[in-house]
Amino acid sequence: MSSYDVIIIGAGPGGYVCAIRCAQLGMKVAVVEGRETLGGTCLNVGCIPSKAMLHASHMLHEAEHNFASMGLKGKAPSVDWKQMLAYKDETIGQNTGGIEFLFKKNKIDWLKGWGSIPEAGKVKVGDDIHEARHIVIASGSEASSLPGVKVDEKTVVTSTGALELGKIPKKLVVIGAGVIGLELGSVYARLGSEVTVVEFLDAITPGMDAEIARQFQKMLTKQGLKFTLGAAVQGVTVKGAKATVTYKLRKDDSEHTLAADTVLVATGRKPYVEGLGLDALGMEMTDRGQIKTDAKYATNIAGIYAIGDAIEGPMLAHKAEDEGMACAEGLAGQHPHVNYGVIPGVIYTHPEVGSVGETEQTLKEKGHAYKVGKFPFMGNARAKANFAGDGFVKILVDAATDRILGAHIIGPMAGDLIHEICVAMEFGAAAEDIARTCHAHPTYSEAVREAALACGDGAIHA
Ligand code: FAD
Ligand code: NAI
Repeated sequence: MSSYDVIIIGAGPGGYVCAIRCAQLGMKVAVVEGRETLGGTCLNVGCIPSKAMLHASHMLHEAEHNFASMGLKGKAPSVDWKQMLAYKDETIGQNTGGIEFLFKKNKIDWLKGWGSIPEAGKVKVGDDIHEARHIVIASGSEASSLPGVKVDEKTVVTSTGALELGKIPKKLVVIGAGVIGLELGSVYARLGSEVTVVEFLDAITPGMDAEIARQFQKMLTKQGLKFTLGAAVQGVTVKGAKATVTYKLRKDDSEHTLAADTVLVATGRKPYVEGLGLDALGMEMTDRGQIKTDAKYATNIAGIYAIGDAIEGPMLAHKAEDEGMACAEGLAGQHPHVNYGVIPGVIYTHPEVGSVGETEQTLKEKGHAYKVGKFPFMGNARAKANFAGDGFVKILVDAATDRILGAHIIGPMAGDLIHEICVAMEFGAAAEDIARTCHAHPTYSEAVREAALACGDGAIHA
């Protein structure tokens, strides 16, 4: 039996970051991970492989659509699917190997296998029982299931199967117009699949600022994605290698079918807590199956903490990481704080979408008086030169004080641009603070400044 200050269950962004921070703060740390490689969902089957596929397919799109206009003549590249998957796998390997290196550097033990908690203070892995003063559950999430839809990860797939298909499907039906459906739907649309997205609600990307969501849908439609909104999927049948998706339109209850070579089920994710022994421990859970925690990530059982996708809040890698760091600092007696009002959300399509804070809808619900400052990328010189003039920056500020309440960007590098506004919000800045900060020319960042100027006396280039 070995003994640790902290044992963390799960080596995703929540668990591995928590482990590194605990080690930096002088604790003896072990991480239990059942996968063959470290990094969790994010590095193995989530953020990283999907971004590799988005990058490769975007490069193809650029070659097909924009190279000739810049005087770059020649045949557009053809797709070597096996090599594209190999590139994706190599990217995963580099990242997961990087975490293994960081574990060694920080003297963190990797306890290989699936862990359970027989009692507070003890973690069982295989036949071994290890002792720990603190246990942190960072066991992550898995794809939610849909009644009438049986996933086989070949014809009917979750994101995991969609990242390693045997071939590029001719017809792909995506169930769910959320983040996974739109990112992976874009990948296959760019690679030549006919992509239809079936969504239960009447708009894509629920929770996103509605004006941005409408613009986003228009842009994706221009890229060839088809949308069937307000549609409740009844089931999927598979015959041979072909699938049929049956759905009912909610407005008139009429039933329809769609034929597909591949069906991607992307209707959300749920916490993964199987095999941990939480029932026997008497762990308090929410009615959505998340582990209940307090502001310091403590569960109702002394000495057991939980972070990341397994608890409440957005299921995002950076949210899990921040909780991992804060949990570790709390265990070391510090007083950390995660600001849940300033957690950015990014969709890595082309163009990207980046959001933070309030939307117009949430402000209206709260009765908060606000002003809007907007600037289109068409007025940004760099964007025009780079065929990236579609989209805009939108900043929402308090009507009386000019303090920034939220921001939403659809356009080039939106996922990076949004962080200027995150930092401003952390400092309690007003739009005028951004507007009076000199921004280098020609950069996409100038569009953020112009939107900030539009909150006051007006943007210059609009
Ligand atoms: P996870 O990353 O899920 O890690 C949990 C780990 O715990 C797993 O490796 C699992 O094997 C292990 N584990 C579970 N139970 C046990 C046990 N009993 N014993 C041992 N090990 C155990 N988020 C973003 O912010 N940006 C993105 O671009 C993004 N893209 C995504 C794309 C896809 C296709 C998917 C599916 C998700 C994406 N996400 C993205 C979400 C992101 O992956 C998660 O929010 C993040 O991984 C959560 O981190 P975590 O540490 O809580 O859990
Ligand atoms: P999601 O919650 O983003 O979207 C699910 C969509 O499916 C919603 O639009 C919902 O209305 C719809 N839906 C639900 N039931 C349905 C039904 N029966 N029929 C038709 N539509 C239905 O979930 P998604 O895309 O599966 O992603 C899961 C998580 O992974 C998200 O929480 C997200 O935060 C995270 N993720 C983050 C990424 C990023 O940050 N770029 C990328 C990919 C995933």
